[in-house]
Amino acid sequence: MNFYEKVYEIVRQIPPGRVASYGQIAALAGNVRASRAVGYALHRNPLPGIIPCHRVVNREGRLAPGFAFGGPGIQQSLLEAEGVAVQNGFVDLRQYGWKLLKEDSVMTFEEIKKKEQENIMPTYGRFQVALENGKGASAYDGSGKKYIDFGSGIGVNSLGYCDSGWVKAVSDQAARLQHISNLYYSPVQVELAEKLCAVSGYSKVFFGNSGAESNECAIKLARKYSADKYSEKRNKIVTLQNSFHGRTVTTLAATGQDVFHQYFLPLTEGFAYAQADDIESVKAAVDENTCAIMMEFIQGEGGVVPISKEFAAQVRALCDEKDLLLIADEVQTGVGRTGAFYCWQNYGVKPDVITSAKGLGGGLPIGACLCSEKLGSVMGSGMHGSTFGGNPVVCAGALEVVRRVSEPEFLSKVQEKGRYIREKLLQLPNVAEVRGMGMMLGVGLKNGTAKDAAAKCVENGLLILTAKTALRLLPPLTITYEEIDEGLAILKKVLEELS
Ligand SMILES: Cc1ncc(COP(=O)(O)O)c(C=O)c1O
Repeated sequence: MNFYEKVYEIVRQIPPGRVASYGQIAALAGNVRASRAVGYALHRNPLPGIIPCHRVVNREGRLAPGFAFGGPGIQQSLLEAEGVAVQNGFVDLRQYGWKLLKEDSVMTFEEIKKKEQENIMPTYGRFQVALENGKGASAYDGSGKKYIDFGSGIGVNSLGYCDSGWVKAVSDQAARLQHISNLYYSPVQVELAEKLCAVSGYSKVFFGNSGAESNECAIKLARKYSADKYSEKRNKIVTLQNSFHGRTVTTLAATGQDVFHQYFLPLTEGFAYAQADDIESVKAAVDENTCAIMMEFIQGEGGVVPISKEFAAQVRALCDEKDLLLIADEVQTGVGRTGAFYCWQNYGVKPDVITSAKGLGGGLPIGACLCSEKLGSVMGSGMHGSTFGGNPVVCAGALEVVRRVSEPEFLSKVQEKGRYIREKLLQLPNVAEVRGMGMMLGVGLKNGTAKDAAAKCVENGLLILTAKTALRLLPPLTITYEEIDEGLAILKKVLEELS
Protein backbone atom coordinates (compact mmCIF):
# COMPACT_ATOMS: atom_id res chain seq x y z
CA MET A 1 0.00 0.00 0.00
CA ASN A 2 1.55 3.33 -0.92
CA PHE A 3 1.41 6.45 1.26
CA TYR A 4 -1.74 7.89 -0.32
CA GLU A 5 -3.58 4.58 -0.20
CA LYS A 6 -2.79 4.42 3.51
CA VAL A 7 -3.98 8.02 3.93
CA TYR A 8 -7.34 7.20 2.39
CA GLU A 9 -7.64 3.99 4.39
CA ILE A 10 -7.15 6.04 7.59
CA VAL A 11 -9.46 8.82 6.51
CA ARG A 12 -12.22 6.33 5.73
CA GLN A 13 -12.07 5.23 9.35
CA ILE A 14 -12.71 8.70 10.82
CA PRO A 15 -16.10 8.30 12.51
CA PRO A 16 -18.81 10.90 11.91
CA GLY A 17 -18.39 13.95 14.14
CA ARG A 18 -14.72 13.26 14.65
CA VAL A 19 -11.75 15.22 13.42
CA ALA A 20 -8.23 14.12 12.54
CA SER A 21 -5.47 16.54 11.78
CA TYR A 22 -3.50 16.20 8.56
CA GLY A 23 -0.42 15.72 10.74
CA GLN A 24 -2.00 12.83 12.60
CA ILE A 25 -3.10 11.19 9.38
CA ALA A 26 0.33 11.66 7.85
CA ALA A 27 1.98 10.13 10.92
CA LEU A 28 -0.39 7.16 10.95
CA ALA A 29 0.31 6.66 7.23
CA GLY A 30 4.02 6.52 7.98
CA ASN A 31 5.40 9.98 7.12
CA VAL A 32 5.14 12.56 9.88
CA ARG A 33 6.40 15.31 7.59
CA ALA A 34 3.75 14.87 4.92
CA SER A 35 0.84 16.72 6.55
CA ARG A 36 0.61 19.21 3.68
CA ALA A 37 0.53 16.40 1.15
CA VAL A 38 -2.39 14.88 3.05
CA GLY A 39 -4.24 18.21 3.02
CA TYR A 40 -3.77 18.69 -0.69
CA ALA A 41 -4.74 15.11 -1.50
CA LEU A 42 -7.96 15.43 0.49
CA HIS A 43 -8.79 18.71 -1.20
CA ARG A 44 -8.18 17.29 -4.63
CA ASN A 45 -9.89 13.98 -4.13
CA PRO A 46 -12.31 14.40 -1.25
CA LEU A 47 -14.13 11.46 0.27
CA PRO A 48 -17.88 11.61 0.83
CA GLY A 49 -18.67 12.75 4.36
CA ILE A 50 -15.16 14.00 5.05
CA ILE A 51 -14.65 17.77 5.02
CA PRO A 52 -11.03 18.70 4.45
CA CYS A 53 -10.27 22.02 6.13
CA HIS A 54 -6.92 23.64 6.49
CA ARG A 55 -7.33 25.47 9.74
CA VAL A 56 -9.25 25.26 12.95
CA VAL A 57 -9.93 27.95 15.54
CA ASN A 58 -10.41 27.20 19.20
CA ARG A 59 -13.25 28.42 21.38
CA GLU A 60 -11.55 31.82 21.90
CA GLY A 61 -11.35 32.22 18.17
CA ARG A 62 -7.57 31.74 18.20
CA LEU A 63 -6.11 30.06 15.15
CA ALA A 64 -4.39 26.76 15.77
CA PRO A 65 -1.87 26.61 12.94
CA GLY A 66 -0.17 23.47 14.26
CA PHE A 67 -3.38 21.62 13.71
CA ALA A 68 -3.07 21.83 10.00
CA PHE A 69 0.61 21.74 9.37
CA GLY A 70 2.61 20.34 12.29
CA GLY A 71 3.62 16.81 13.17
CA PRO A 72 1.77 14.76 15.79
CA GLY A 73 3.98 16.02 18.66
CA ILE A 74 2.94 19.58 18.02
CA GLN A 75 -0.67 18.55 17.72
CA GLN A 76 -0.57 16.67 20.95
CA SER A 77 0.95 19.47 23.01
CA LEU A 78 -1.32 22.06 21.43
CA LEU A 79 -4.38 20.01 22.12
CA GLU A 80 -3.26 19.21 25.67
CA ALA A 81 -2.73 22.92 26.32
CA GLU A 82 -6.31 23.41 25.25
CA GLY A 83 -7.47 20.59 27.55
CA VAL A 84 -8.46 18.32 24.69
CA ALA A 85 -8.16 14.55 25.13
CA VAL A 86 -6.90 12.56 22.18
CA GLN A 87 -8.23 9.05 21.72
CA ASN A 88 -6.93 6.62 19.12
CA GLY A 89 -5.30 9.46 17.19
CA PHE A 90 -8.67 11.09 16.53
CA VAL A 91 -10.34 13.76 18.54
CA ASP A 92 -13.73 15.38 18.42
CA LEU A 93 -12.73 19.01 18.69
CA ARG A 94 -16.26 20.25 18.33
CA GLN A 95 -17.26 18.82 21.68
CA TYR A 96 -14.65 21.15 23.19
CA GLY A 97 -16.19 24.15 21.52
CA TRP A 98 -13.77 24.21 18.60
CA LYS A 99 -15.08 25.38 15.32
CA LEU A 100 -14.09 24.06 11.93
CA LEU A 101 -13.35 26.74 9.40
CA LYS A 102 -14.45 25.48 6.03
CA GLU A 103 -12.44 28.28 4.49
CA ASP A 104 -8.71 27.98 4.26
CA SER A 105 -8.37 31.73 4.66
CA VAL A 106 -8.42 33.63 7.92
CA MET A 107 -9.47 36.68 5.89
CA THR A 108 -12.48 37.01 3.66
CA PHE A 109 -11.93 38.09 0.06
CA GLU A 110 -13.37 41.54 0.87
CA GLU A 111 -10.94 41.92 3.78
CA ILE A 112 -8.01 40.98 1.55
CA LYS A 113 -9.12 43.51 -1.07
CA LYS A 114 -9.48 46.24 1.52
CA LYS A 115 -6.05 45.60 3.00
CA GLU A 116 -4.55 45.65 -0.49
CA GLN A 117 -6.19 49.00 -1.29
CA GLU A 118 -4.87 50.42 1.97
CA ASN A 119 -1.33 49.12 1.73
CA ILE A 120 -0.21 48.23 -1.79
CA MET A 121 0.52 50.58 -4.70
CA PRO A 122 -2.27 50.05 -7.21
CA THR A 123 -0.06 48.95 -10.11
CA TYR A 124 -1.94 45.73 -10.90
CA GLY A 125 -5.37 45.20 -12.41
CA ARG A 126 -6.27 42.06 -10.54
CA PHE A 127 -8.88 39.40 -11.23
CA GLN A 128 -11.51 39.06 -8.50
CA VAL A 129 -9.93 36.12 -6.72
CA ALA A 130 -7.38 35.53 -3.95
CA LEU A 131 -5.51 32.25 -4.30
CA GLU A 132 -4.42 30.36 -1.24
CA ASN A 133 -3.02 27.00 -2.24
CA GLY A 134 -2.57 24.73 -5.20
CA LYS A 135 -1.42 21.40 -6.54
CA GLY A 136 -0.56 20.49 -10.11
CA ALA A 137 -2.54 22.74 -12.43
CA SER A 138 -5.27 23.45 -9.85
CA ALA A 139 -5.33 26.43 -7.49
CA TYR A 140 -7.84 27.05 -4.69
CA ASP A 141 -9.26 30.19 -3.16
CA GLY A 142 -10.08 30.67 0.50
CA SER A 143 -13.46 29.00 0.17
CA GLY A 144 -11.92 25.91 -1.39
CA LYS A 145 -13.18 26.79 -4.89
CA LYS A 146 -10.98 25.19 -7.52
CA TYR A 147 -9.43 27.00 -10.48
CA ILE A 148 -7.77 25.17 -13.36
CA ASP A 149 -4.66 27.15 -14.16
CA PHE A 150 -3.83 27.90 -17.81
CA GLY A 151 -1.45 30.71 -16.85
CA SER A 152 1.03 29.22 -14.33
CA GLY A 153 1.72 32.62 -12.78
CA ILE A 154 2.55 34.05 -16.25
CA GLY A 155 4.66 31.12 -17.35
CA VAL A 156 6.46 30.69 -14.04
CA ASN A 157 5.21 27.51 -12.35
CA SER A 158 6.63 25.20 -15.00
CA LEU A 159 6.14 22.10 -12.85
CA GLY A 160 2.75 23.27 -11.57
CA TYR A 161 1.86 24.20 -8.02
CA CYS A 162 3.89 22.60 -5.23
CA ASP A 163 5.41 19.79 -7.28
CA SER A 164 6.77 17.35 -4.71
CA GLY A 165 10.28 17.13 -6.22
CA TRP A 166 10.56 20.90 -6.47
CA VAL A 167 9.21 21.45 -2.93
CA LYS A 168 11.72 18.95 -1.58
CA ALA A 169 14.65 20.52 -3.44
CA VAL A 170 13.72 24.01 -2.22
CA SER A 171 12.86 23.09 1.36
CA ASP A 172 15.93 20.86 1.82
CA GLN A 173 18.14 23.72 0.63
CA ALA A 174 16.29 26.27 2.79
CA ALA A 175 16.88 24.06 5.81
CA ARG A 176 20.59 23.75 4.96
CA LEU A 177 21.65 27.24 3.85
CA GLN A 178 19.23 29.89 2.61
CA HIS A 179 21.60 32.56 1.35
CA ILE A 180 25.25 33.33 0.94
CA SER A 181 26.78 36.36 -0.65
CA ASN A 182 28.32 36.10 -4.09
CA LEU A 183 31.58 36.79 -2.26
CA TYR A 184 31.65 33.05 -1.63
CA TYR A 185 31.50 30.00 -3.88
CA SER A 186 28.19 28.17 -3.95
CA PRO A 187 27.94 24.45 -4.81
CA VAL A 188 24.30 24.61 -5.87
CA GLN A 189 24.88 27.72 -8.02
CA VAL A 190 27.70 26.06 -9.95
CA GLU A 191 25.69 22.87 -10.34
CA LEU A 192 22.84 24.84 -11.88
CA ALA A 193 25.24 26.83 -14.08
CA GLU A 194 26.87 23.67 -15.41
CA LYS A 195 23.54 22.00 -16.16
CA LEU A 196 21.97 25.12 -17.70
CA CYS A 197 24.97 25.78 -19.95
CA ALA A 198 25.01 22.12 -21.03
CA VAL A 199 21.33 21.93 -21.95
CA SER A 200 21.15 25.37 -23.55
CA GLY A 201 24.33 25.12 -25.63
CA TYR A 202 25.89 28.24 -24.06
CA SER A 203 29.24 28.74 -22.43
CA LYS A 204 28.71 31.03 -19.41
CA VAL A 205 25.86 32.41 -17.35
CA PHE A 206 25.15 35.33 -15.04
CA PHE A 207 22.35 34.84 -12.51
CA GLY A 208 19.97 37.64 -11.50
CA ASN A 209 16.43 37.69 -10.16
CA SER A 210 14.08 38.56 -13.02
CA GLY A 211 13.62 38.84 -16.74
CA ALA A 212 14.30 42.57 -16.76
CA GLU A 213 17.52 42.05 -14.85
CA SER A 214 18.66 39.34 -17.27
CA ASN A 215 18.07 41.74 -20.14
CA GLU A 216 20.00 44.49 -18.33
CA CYS A 217 22.94 42.09 -18.16
CA ALA A 218 22.64 41.26 -21.88
CA ILE A 219 22.57 44.98 -22.76
CA LYS A 220 25.62 45.72 -20.62
CA LEU A 221 27.41 42.71 -22.10
CA ALA A 222 26.73 43.85 -25.68
CA ARG A 223 27.92 47.39 -24.96
CA LYS A 224 31.04 46.19 -23.20
CA TYR A 225 31.88 43.76 -26.03
CA SER A 226 31.56 46.52 -28.57
CA ALA A 227 33.41 49.10 -26.45
CA ASP A 228 36.34 46.68 -26.01
CA LYS A 229 36.51 45.80 -29.71
CA TYR A 230 35.48 49.07 -31.38
CA SER A 231 34.61 52.15 -29.32
CA GLU A 232 32.26 53.24 -26.55
CA LYS A 233 30.25 55.10 -29.20
CA ARG A 234 29.21 51.80 -30.72
CA ASN A 235 26.49 51.22 -28.11
CA LYS A 236 23.15 51.28 -29.93
CA ILE A 237 20.76 48.34 -29.74
CA VAL A 238 18.01 47.66 -32.27
CA THR A 239 14.88 46.03 -30.90
CA LEU A 240 11.53 45.22 -32.50
CA GLN A 241 8.28 47.14 -32.44
CA ASN A 242 5.64 45.45 -30.28
CA SER A 243 8.36 43.81 -28.16
CA PHE A 244 8.44 43.58 -24.38
CA HIS A 245 11.70 43.40 -22.42
CA GLY A 246 10.86 44.54 -18.88
CA ARG A 247 9.99 47.44 -16.59
CA THR A 248 13.32 48.91 -15.54
CA VAL A 249 14.18 52.23 -17.16
CA THR A 250 16.60 50.56 -19.59
CA THR A 251 14.44 47.54 -20.47
CA LEU A 252 11.49 49.90 -20.97
CA ALA A 253 13.68 51.72 -23.48
CA ALA A 254 14.33 48.38 -25.17
CA THR A 255 10.58 47.66 -25.23
CA GLY A 256 9.16 48.73 -28.60
CA GLN A 257 5.75 49.87 -27.33
CA ASP A 258 5.17 53.56 -26.61
CA VAL A 259 2.37 52.78 -24.17
CA PHE A 260 4.93 51.51 -21.65
CA HIS A 261 7.17 54.58 -22.04
CA GLN A 262 4.55 57.15 -21.02
CA TYR A 263 5.28 59.05 -17.78
CA PHE A 264 8.79 57.69 -17.36
CA LEU A 265 10.88 59.76 -19.75
CA PRO A 266 13.75 60.20 -20.20
CA LEU A 267 14.55 56.56 -20.75
CA THR A 268 18.03 55.14 -21.30
CA GLU A 269 19.47 56.31 -24.62
CA GLY A 270 20.69 54.11 -27.41
CA PHE A 271 17.70 52.11 -28.63
CA ALA A 272 16.14 52.07 -32.10
CA TYR A 273 13.09 50.08 -33.18
CA ALA A 274 12.49 48.05 -36.31
CA GLN A 275 9.55 46.15 -37.71
CA ALA A 276 9.37 42.40 -37.03
CA ASP A 277 9.47 40.17 -40.13
CA ASP A 278 10.86 43.05 -42.19
CA ILE A 279 14.62 42.76 -42.62
CA GLU A 280 14.80 46.02 -44.59
CA SER A 281 13.40 47.85 -41.58
CA VAL A 282 16.08 46.26 -39.38
CA LYS A 283 18.81 47.18 -41.86
CA ALA A 284 17.54 50.76 -41.89
CA ALA A 285 17.68 50.96 -38.09
CA VAL A 286 21.25 49.59 -37.90
CA ASP A 287 24.05 52.15 -38.27
CA GLU A 288 27.77 52.35 -37.57
CA ASN A 289 27.07 52.78 -33.84
CA THR A 290 24.91 49.67 -33.48
CA CYS A 291 26.29 46.88 -31.30
CA ALA A 292 23.37 44.43 -31.04
CA ILE A 293 19.93 43.35 -32.18
CA MET A 294 17.59 42.14 -29.46
CA MET A 295 14.36 40.25 -30.13
CA GLU A 296 11.85 37.70 -28.89
CA PHE A 297 11.25 34.67 -31.13
CA ILE A 298 7.61 34.87 -30.04
CA GLN A 299 6.41 38.25 -28.82
CA GLY A 300 4.57 37.18 -25.69
CA GLU A 301 3.20 40.37 -24.16
CA GLY A 302 2.80 41.65 -27.72
CA GLY A 303 0.00 39.13 -28.34
CA VAL A 304 1.80 35.76 -28.79
CA VAL A 305 3.16 36.66 -32.22
CA PRO A 306 5.96 34.42 -33.56
CA ILE A 307 8.53 35.91 -35.92
CA SER A 308 9.08 33.99 -39.15
CA LYS A 309 11.95 31.52 -39.55
CA GLU A 310 13.11 33.43 -42.59
CA PHE A 311 13.31 36.71 -40.67
CA ALA A 312 15.20 35.07 -37.77
CA ALA A 313 17.76 33.69 -40.24
CA GLN A 314 18.07 37.08 -41.98
CA VAL A 315 18.72 38.84 -38.66
CA ARG A 316 21.38 36.24 -37.80
CA ALA A 317 23.07 36.80 -41.16
CA LEU A 318 23.01 40.59 -40.67
CA CYS A 319 24.55 40.22 -37.21
CA ASP A 320 27.31 38.00 -38.63
CA GLU A 321 28.00 40.43 -41.45
CA LYS A 322 28.33 43.48 -39.17
CA ASP A 323 29.65 41.81 -35.98
CA LEU A 324 26.51 42.69 -34.04
CA LEU A 325 25.47 40.52 -31.14
CA LEU A 326 22.15 38.75 -31.56
CA ILE A 327 20.37 38.79 -28.19
CA ALA A 328 17.24 36.66 -27.84
CA ASP A 329 14.93 37.49 -24.98
CA GLU A 330 13.76 34.00 -24.00
CA VAL A 331 12.26 35.14 -20.72
CA GLN A 332 8.81 33.90 -21.73
CA THR A 333 9.69 31.40 -24.47
CA GLY A 334 12.43 29.59 -22.54
CA VAL A 335 12.71 26.47 -20.39
CA GLY A 336 10.53 24.09 -22.37
CA ARG A 337 7.64 26.48 -22.91
CA THR A 338 7.64 26.11 -26.70
CA GLY A 339 8.50 22.41 -26.77
CA ALA A 340 12.26 22.95 -27.13
CA PHE A 341 14.37 23.80 -24.10
CA TYR A 342 14.94 27.25 -25.60
CA CYS A 343 12.89 28.55 -28.53
CA TRP A 344 15.93 29.29 -30.74
CA GLN A 345 16.22 25.51 -31.09
CA ASN A 346 12.85 25.49 -32.91
CA TYR A 347 14.16 28.12 -35.31
CA GLY A 348 17.63 26.65 -35.85
CA VAL A 349 19.01 30.18 -35.37
CA LYS A 350 21.45 30.43 -32.50
CA PRO A 351 21.75 33.84 -30.79
CA ASP A 352 25.01 35.02 -29.18
CA VAL A 353 23.21 35.81 -25.94
CA ILE A 354 19.93 34.55 -24.52
CA THR A 355 18.07 35.74 -21.46
CA SER A 356 15.89 33.51 -19.32
CA ALA A 357 13.67 33.91 -16.23
CA LYS A 358 9.97 33.09 -15.56
CA GLY A 359 9.75 29.28 -15.81
CA LEU A 360 13.41 28.75 -14.90
CA GLY A 361 12.88 28.85 -11.14
CA GLY A 362 9.58 26.95 -11.15
CA GLY A 363 8.08 29.64 -8.88
CA LEU A 364 11.02 31.40 -7.29
CA PRO A 365 12.65 34.53 -8.71
CA ILE A 366 15.62 33.83 -10.92
CA GLY A 367 16.99 35.33 -14.10
CA ALA A 368 19.84 34.13 -16.27
CA CYS A 369 21.84 35.74 -19.04
CA LEU A 370 23.68 33.10 -21.07
CA CYS A 371 26.40 33.84 -23.59
CA SER A 372 28.43 32.03 -26.22
CA GLU A 373 32.08 31.17 -25.78
CA LYS A 374 33.50 34.28 -27.47
CA LEU A 375 31.67 36.48 -24.90
CA GLY A 376 32.57 34.45 -21.81
CA SER A 377 35.23 36.85 -20.52
CA VAL A 378 33.75 40.18 -21.62
CA MET A 379 32.39 41.01 -18.15
CA GLY A 380 35.16 41.25 -15.58
CA SER A 381 35.26 41.28 -11.81
CA GLY A 382 33.17 44.06 -10.24
CA MET A 383 31.42 45.02 -13.48
CA HIS A 384 28.09 43.43 -12.68
CA GLY A 385 26.45 41.81 -9.69
CA SER A 386 23.33 41.17 -7.69
CA THR A 387 22.89 40.52 -3.98
CA PHE A 388 20.34 37.75 -4.48
CA GLY A 389 21.54 36.54 -7.89
CA GLY A 390 22.14 32.79 -7.78
CA ASN A 391 20.65 32.45 -4.29
CA PRO A 392 21.03 28.81 -3.12
CA VAL A 393 17.32 28.12 -2.47
CA VAL A 394 16.31 29.57 -5.82
CA CYS A 395 19.09 27.67 -7.60
CA ALA A 396 17.99 24.41 -5.93
CA GLY A 397 14.46 24.92 -7.31
CA ALA A 398 15.79 25.87 -10.75
CA LEU A 399 18.08 22.84 -10.83
CA GLU A 400 15.09 20.55 -10.29
CA VAL A 401 13.23 22.37 -13.09
CA VAL A 402 16.15 22.25 -15.54
CA ARG A 403 16.93 18.58 -14.86
CA ARG A 404 13.35 17.52 -15.49
CA VAL A 405 12.33 19.87 -18.28
CA SER A 406 15.48 19.21 -20.33
CA GLU A 407 14.69 15.46 -20.59
CA PRO A 408 13.77 14.75 -24.26
CA GLU A 409 10.74 12.75 -23.10
CA PHE A 410 9.48 15.72 -21.05
CA LEU A 411 9.89 18.07 -24.01
CA SER A 412 8.10 15.74 -26.40
CA LYS A 413 5.18 15.60 -23.96
CA VAL A 414 5.07 19.41 -24.00
CA GLN A 415 4.89 19.27 -27.80
CA GLU A 416 2.14 16.63 -27.70
CA LYS A 417 0.07 18.51 -25.14
CA GLY A 418 0.60 21.74 -27.05
CA ARG A 419 -0.71 20.11 -30.24
CA TYR A 420 -3.67 18.67 -28.36
CA ILE A 421 -4.61 22.04 -26.82
CA ARG A 422 -4.23 23.81 -30.16
CA GLU A 423 -6.48 21.31 -31.95
CA LYS A 424 -9.12 21.55 -29.23
CA LEU A 425 -8.96 25.35 -29.20
CA LEU A 426 -9.56 25.47 -32.93
CA GLN A 427 -12.80 23.52 -32.41
CA LEU A 428 -14.13 25.97 -29.81
CA PRO A 429 -16.82 28.50 -30.67
CA ASN A 430 -15.78 32.11 -31.27
CA VAL A 431 -12.12 31.23 -31.97
CA ALA A 432 -10.73 33.10 -34.98
CA GLU A 433 -7.10 32.02 -34.76
CA VAL A 434 -4.59 30.13 -32.61
CA ARG A 435 -0.95 31.29 -32.65
CA GLY A 436 2.24 30.24 -30.89
CA MET A 437 4.32 27.13 -30.30
CA GLY A 438 4.27 24.26 -27.82
CA MET A 439 2.43 25.37 -24.72
CA MET A 440 2.69 29.10 -25.43
CA LEU A 441 -0.55 29.79 -27.27
CA GLY A 442 -2.49 32.91 -28.21
CA VAL A 443 -6.15 32.78 -29.19
CA GLY A 444 -7.72 35.48 -31.36
CA LEU A 445 -11.48 35.84 -30.77
CA LYS A 446 -14.23 36.59 -33.28
CA ASN A 447 -16.53 38.35 -30.80
CA GLY A 448 -16.03 39.96 -27.41
CA THR A 449 -12.78 41.03 -25.81
CA ALA A 450 -10.10 38.78 -24.39
CA LYS A 451 -10.27 40.82 -21.18
CA ASP A 452 -13.97 40.04 -20.68
CA ALA A 453 -13.47 36.40 -21.62
CA ALA A 454 -10.62 36.04 -19.10
CA ALA A 455 -12.68 37.65 -16.32
CA LYS A 456 -15.60 35.30 -17.08
CA CYS A 457 -13.24 32.32 -17.11
CA VAL A 458 -12.05 33.21 -13.61
CA GLU A 459 -15.67 33.43 -12.39
CA ASN A 460 -16.17 29.93 -13.80
CA GLY A 461 -13.01 28.44 -12.31
CA LEU A 462 -10.35 28.89 -15.02
CA LEU A 463 -7.26 31.09 -14.73
CA ILE A 464 -6.26 32.31 -18.18
CA LEU A 465 -4.12 35.23 -19.40
CA THR A 466 -4.50 37.88 -22.05
CA ALA A 467 -1.91 39.47 -24.32
CA LYS A 468 -3.09 42.53 -26.25
CA THR A 469 -6.34 41.38 -27.92
CA ALA A 470 -5.64 37.66 -27.55
CA LEU A 471 -6.33 35.13 -24.84
CA ARG A 472 -3.00 33.66 -23.80
CA LEU A 473 -2.37 30.16 -22.51
CA LEU A 474 0.84 29.30 -20.66
CA PRO A 475 -0.25 26.23 -18.67
CA PRO A 476 2.11 24.43 -16.31
CA LEU A 477 4.23 22.12 -18.47
CA THR A 478 3.17 19.21 -16.26
CA ILE A 479 -0.57 19.79 -16.73
CA THR A 480 -2.48 16.52 -17.23
CA TYR A 481 -4.89 15.80 -20.09
CA GLU A 482 -7.74 15.65 -17.54
CA GLU A 483 -6.87 19.15 -16.31
CA ILE A 484 -6.57 20.39 -19.90
CA ASP A 485 -10.02 19.00 -20.72
CA GLU A 486 -11.49 20.47 -17.53
CA GLY A 487 -10.09 23.91 -18.37
CA LEU A 488 -11.14 23.74 -22.01
CA ALA A 489 -14.70 22.83 -20.99
CA ILE A 490 -14.87 26.05 -18.94
CA LEU A 491 -13.37 28.06 -21.79
CA LYS A 492 -15.91 26.56 -24.21
CA LYS A 493 -18.81 27.61 -22.00
CA VAL A 494 -17.43 31.16 -21.68
CA LEU A 495 -16.76 31.51 -25.42
CA GLU A 496 -20.25 30.22 -26.23
CA GLU A 497 -21.71 32.92 -24.01
CA LEU A 498 -19.60 35.60 -25.74
CA SER A 499 -20.43 34.55 -29.29
C1 LIG B 1 9.87 38.57 -23.13
C2 LIG B 1 9.93 39.17 -21.76
N1 LIG B 1 11.05 39.81 -21.38
C3 LIG B 1 11.15 40.36 -20.15
C4 LIG B 1 10.12 40.30 -19.25
C5 LIG B 1 10.27 40.92 -17.90
O1 LIG B 1 10.43 39.92 -16.94
P1 LIG B 1 10.31 40.27 -15.38
O2 LIG B 1 8.91 40.69 -15.11
O3 LIG B 1 10.71 39.00 -14.69
O4 LIG B 1 11.29 41.37 -15.12
C6 LIG B 1 8.94 39.64 -19.62
C7 LIG B 1 7.80 39.60 -18.69
O5 LIG B 1 6.67 39.41 -19.05
C8 LIG B 1 8.85 39.06 -20.89
O6 LIG B 1 7.73 38.43 -21.30
